Amino acid sequence: MIYLQDLSLTNYRCYKKRHFDFMPGINIIVGPNAIGKTSIVEAIHCLGFLRSHKAAQDEEMIRTGQEYAFVNGNFIRDDKKVEISLALTHKGKRIQSNGKAFRQLSEYLGFLEVVIFCPEDMSIVKGGPNLRRRFLDINLALTDTKYFQSMSKYRRLLKQRNEILKEMNRNGKYDMALLKIVTESMAQEAEAIVRFRNAFIAELNPLIEQKSMQISKGRESATLVYFPNCSDEIVEKMLKSIKIDIQAKTTTLGPHRDDFRIDLNGVAAAAFASQGQQRTSALALKLALAEYLKRRNEEIIILLDDVFSELDKERQNELLKLINSDYQIFITTTAIDNLSAEILEKSKIINIGREV
Ligand SMILES: Nc1ncnc2c1ncn2[C@@H]1O[C@H](COP(=O)(O)OP(=O)(O)OP(=O)(O)O)[C@@H](O)[C@H]1O
Ligand SMILES: [Mg+2]
Repeated sequence: MIYLQDLSLTNYRCYKKRHFDFMPGINIIVGPNAIGKTSIVEAIHCLGFLRSHKAAQDEEMIRTGQEYAFVNGNFIRDDKKVEISLALTHKGKRIQSNGKAFRQLSEYLGFLEVVIFCPEDMSIVKGGPNLRRRFLDINLALTDTKYFQSMSKYRRLLKQRNEILKEMNRNGKYDMALLKIVTESMAQEAEAIVRFRNAFIAELNPLIEQKSMQISKGRESATLVYFPNCSDEIVEKMLKSIKIDIQAKTTTLGPHRDDFRIDLNGVAAAAFASQGQQRTSALALKLALAEYLKRRNEEIIILLDDVFSELDKERQNELLKLINSDYQIFITTTAIDNLSAEILEKSKIINIGREV
């Protein structure tokens, strides 16, 4: 188990210098709009993944007009203290663990995984398929290097194949032998990718069902339905589609066109569920993911940014009841009036005042 004991922010977003103490279980960050709640969550995310969950550029996180920003966190991991320091400058970033710097940023990754739910995550339910593929890719690559390798290879081949198709169309010369070789290699990776995605969704499903039932007090069961663009005889089908692909000037079959749907009580959540129900299913998905990662011995912390809006009093409390002592969790909200005394008693409330 890992938890963040305290966090210091220097020149980070709206914070000039500020220190926060946390506890292992539920930490509720309360304050009005624009006070810096999401910024705390973002800083913790950075300690896990070395990048923001929302900023396009690292520089955005440096307080306006400043040269650098520091994020320092003291973690307790297996009863040992680990100090992580992240420095952001306009030229780049550096990470240290107990004072030891990493030559490659990638060497650091894996110390801490963060499962984050932020308002933008609602687009997993409602948005386009690319966001859902991203969800699959990021989380599968995180837990399985074989998936990462297959995906990287597939993407490289896809790019190459599309270039060949375009080039052929331009000059009217068709090198079918080359196209066949690339297609066959691609299809092999596609088979592996579809297998991984199938297994991932199958393992997530009972977990999502359980979480959504708990938050909704037994009223709603969320499940994922996988729609592979091509699920069997992939090699044969991709070879067969060469002619169509030449006309289309692009690769029309394969896992780069996969999707999954979130169903609520058997119907598409995007089309039929209410706002609160959609939020419940997206949350159930993230909590299921946390359990999936935990099973793989990943050290995780859960961040829920602005999660209470659209959830009624009952759902807010059920959600917090669901968090077991295996995880440290951070929740941001503008008000805690709806939370039961029982929940408040076992949580640490971090009230952010106006003065920073
Ligand atoms: N680089 C920066 N330098 C200075 N201030 C910044 C920087 N980036 C963002 N801010 C400001 O930091 C403040 C806090 O933003 P944050 O998103 O953390 O608020 P919040 O408490 O989550 O608000 P809400 O309840 O509306 O979600 C905002 O006023 C924002 O404009
Ligand atoms: Mg916010």
